[in-house]
Amino acid sequence: MKKTIPIMLMLIFIFSNVIASEKTEEIQMEKVETIFYDPPLPIALIGTKAGEQVNFMTAAWFTRLEIDPYLFGVSIQKKHLTHKAIMENNCFSISIPTVDLIPQVDAVGMLSGKDYDKSEVFDVFYGDNEKSPMVDGSIVSFECEVVNSVSLIEADEVHPNAHTLFIAEVKNVWVNKNGVKDNALDYETLKPILWTFSPMSYWTIGENLGQCFDKDNVKLVPKKKGEAK
Ligand SMILES: Cc1cc2nc3c(=O)[nH]c(=O)nc-3n(C[C@H](O)[C@H](O)[C@H](O)COP(=O)(O)O)c2cc1C
Repeated sequence: MKKTIPIMLMLIFIFSNVIASEKTEEIQMEKVETIFYDPPLPIALIGTKAGEQVNFMTAAWFTRLEIDPYLFGVSIQKKHLTHKAIMENNCFSISIPTVDLIPQVDAVGMLSGKDYDKSEVFDVFYGDNEKSPMVDGSIVSFECEVVNSVSLIEADEVHPNAHTLFIAEVKNVWVNKNGVKDNALDYETLKPILWTFSPMSYWTIGENLGQCFDKDNVKLVPKKKGEAK
């Protein structure tokens, strides 16, 4: 009996290694024709003035682009009223809504200001720029000025939904007094809205999975002097 235990342990070790090596050889990915990739994205409300009309549209395709200057990029369809207003005014606002505002966010993301007056949908406030209305009760709002724009593709019959990427610099920042903890935005108190294309749904953040930029996560050995590029 004493002899069989080490033999059994050895067999388990060999067997598990065989399985492990088989696993790493097996590729889990498969090539497909294409897939619509819209992972859970935070939602923003883009505020503009189209003439005298206050207008908001929902945008998922926006992101922070630079630290200093503080830049955001947002991709907006050329046919939207928001696009026309930004081209005319060279400015807009970004407000990050909370989950309480999902019905309103959905409505201004379906209906165009060309056909509907959306000025009463949200409680509006202004900072320095009267052409950049913002949404009161948001997690945070930014007054932005366009510094660059890229026409991503010409709008035509094949591409009726063509977008322009607007790159804008933040001029003023407004935070919700109820959503700041330890001098930072507290997403557990004021929950942001996330959106996925497939399934076509709204979500919010889940559990906190731990700190990022954690050195304990680094298992790589640094390059030696002279090897570093
Ligand atoms: C969840 C969601 C996300 C959206 N994201 C974008 C986006 O990133 N860019 C865009 O051009 N349109 C986006 N839209 C569509 C516009 O919000 C929508 O067409 C809106 O009615 C345009 O309004 P406007 O014509 O008054 O500017 C989104 C809509 C929804 C519901």
